[in-house]
Amino acid sequence: MSSPDLSEHARRNRRHWDETADDYQARHASFIGRPEPRWGIWQLPEEELDILGEVAGKDVLELGCGAAQWSILLAGRGARPVGLDNSERQLEHARRLMAQAGVEFPLVHASAESVPLPDAGFDVVFCDHGAIGWADPYRTVPEASRLLRPGGLLAFSITSPIASLCFSLTTDLIEPTLHRPYFGLHRLEDDETVNFQLPYGEWVRLLRRSGLELEDLVEPRPPAGARSTYWEESELPWARDWPSECIWKARKRVS
Ligand SMILES: C[S@@+](CC[C@H](N)C(=O)[O-])C[C@H]1O[C@@H](n2cnc3c(N)ncnc32)[C@H](O)[C@@H]1O
Repeated sequence: MSSPDLSEHARRNRRHWDETADDYQARHASFIGRPEPRWGIWQLPEEELDILGEVAGKDVLELGCGAAQWSILLAGRGARPVGLDNSERQLEHARRLMAQAGVEFPLVHASAESVPLPDAGFDVVFCDHGAIGWADPYRTVPEASRLLRPGGLLAFSITSPIASLCFSLTTDLIEPTLHRPYFGLHRLEDDETVNFQLPYGEWVRLLRRSGLELEDLVEPRPPAGARSTYWEESELPWARDWPSECIWKARKRVS
């Protein structure tokens, strides 16, 4: 599919995800293919964190749904999900898992920076390490707000700003060392991919400028005995002392 309005970084990330989707799904299948919704690097249960709340009867958009493990579970709880992803190969995995689960809902192949859906069509827009860390938040956050109904919820998990500072491009690991400046955090790239991050205050201002009120910032910590297919065992001590990820919760202003 040709996408003339796709940004340079979305094009690069699309190529990366199309090439690596099969390996990604094989590596993480049993970790994220749980029977109940769980968040992030440590797969903490939604039941404990209560980020999305009741979803039955709600229109829910997942930005960067991958193989749609989350949306499939939310459909099972009575939500009306739509899964959006920039990678056609990831969406092929989503179709496979949806067929296995016997559920159907729309899938959209597009970048979360420019979503081909009308304004105010959703009660919940969310992602779990999905598009908001992989696309420019100065585009995706206003876009998410546009798609939400007044009072609707935006919730997304993303690497924490502290972890982004401590990630070493040399070892590919998180280290107890600040590898880059905090001020000006935005675009982080390696040879294949482009990721995005902002300083904490800038996240807050961007949410507010986009018509959203911040409700919570959850900083999950690995529980005793935690393991992850995303982080190495050697990185666990770091994650016990500093936040590896953030879950941001904000609500679309009513007036
Ligand atoms: C780390 S995966 C997470 C997917 C899923 N939440 C999971 O836990 O497996 C990130 C996903 O974001 C998608 N993505 C990257 N850039 C995107 C963009 N600009 N718009 C929409 N999706 C994007 C990728 O294709 C990939 O499927």
